Amino acid sequence: MTATVPATGRQFDLGPLSQIPAGEGRAFAVDGQQVAVFHLRTGKVHAVSAVCPHKGGPLADGQIDGAVVVCPLHLNAFELATGCSRNGLPSLRSYPVEITDSGDVVVTV
Ligand code: FES
Repeated sequence: MTATVPATGRQFDLGPLSQIPAGEGRAFAVDGQQVAVFHLRTGKVHAVSAVCPHKGGPLADGQIDGAVVVCPLHLNAFELATGCSRNGLPSLRSYPVEITDSGDVVVTV
């Protein structure tokens, strides 16, 4: 028997995905948290905490590829899907994110 884990947290509509060009990220203030939303060129979207755990770098301004964001300050890399560091730093918080039928970004914090 499998148990269904209810979704926790609250959902916030951040507006249209079209405000984030493909291949870039944007930072949003969501319920008192800084959340970086990345729009991959594949169309996938990921959301992680926007503040680098190393020295507070602005991760939404980092370079991304299909799997990682690289902090613009000291070039540490974090997995977009999980928030895990590739350089031994603490993980970023990862947020569930989805795109509505109308094209809005909805993040759960
Ligand atoms: S502040 Fe992000 S790697 Fe240093």
